[in-house]
Amino acid sequence: MTAIWAHRGACAYAPENTIPAFQLAIDMAADGVELDVQRTADGHLVIIHDETINRTSNGVGKVVDLTLEELRRCDFTNGFVGRRNLKIPTLNEALELFRPTNLTVNIELKNSVELYPGMELEVVKAVSAMGMDDQVLYSSFNHFSLAELRGLVAPENLALLLTDGLLDPWSYANWFGAGAINPDYRTLQQPGFVWLAHEAGIKVNTWIVNKDEDAQRLAESGVDAIITNFPDRVGDAVRRPGF
Ligand code: G3P
Ligand code: MG
Repeated sequence: MTAIWAHRGACAYAPENTIPAFQLAIDMAADGVELDVQRTADGHLVIIHDETINRTSNGVGKVVDLTLEELRRCDFTNGFVGRRNLKIPTLNEALELFRPTNLTVNIELKNSVELYPGMELEVVKAVSAMGMDDQVLYSSFNHFSLAELRGLVAPENLALLLTDGLLDPWSYANWFGAGAINPDYRTLQQPGFVWLAHEAGIKVNTWIVNKDEDAQRLAESGVDAIITNFPDRVGDAVRRPGF
């Protein structure tokens, strides 16, 4: 059964990477959630996608240059009608929300532009302190960073984010010591992609799948998880009998 994970929370319905978007993911019966982690100037782990706050808040500046207090003064409502005064969540606040649930939490370390040296261990410590080691899947486009995680977490909790159409990426994953690849769904063009990955013992979690027909095709091919902005509708589509 293909799992449905809410991308940046249920970000089609509430401001991305905010507590309301995460709560909606729970309410919509998603099987998991994907969120992006970065670090403030004063060392706090926060949930935000872009390296700057310009697009998603009423403030300006780089996350790496701002303190948590400065970030907390900004509103991350991001134009969503009916929402106001939404604060940037810390990683701990997000983890606290998901800890009592059975949702998989896919923590993407957003460290390809700002590298945030040492953030890997800080994130693992935060997760461990919550007792959530088995509930979290760590991913990043920065595979140097994921390599830092290899000694800290089990291979099945590591996922290599991929943007390009690579041949046999499951071979790379096995060499790397990661249990999953998280590719852009548009790159799954190699015939038998998911079958071959599974034969190699590698899971496939794919993003960002927002159309029902794409989700159904991918679910039929056996992907392990679909990451989507619409966990309710896409979830219904892949669970619909006889699609
Ligand atoms: O982790 C899947 C997906 O979130 C990767 O792309 O840019 O949305 O973080 P992005
Ligand atoms: Mg992401």
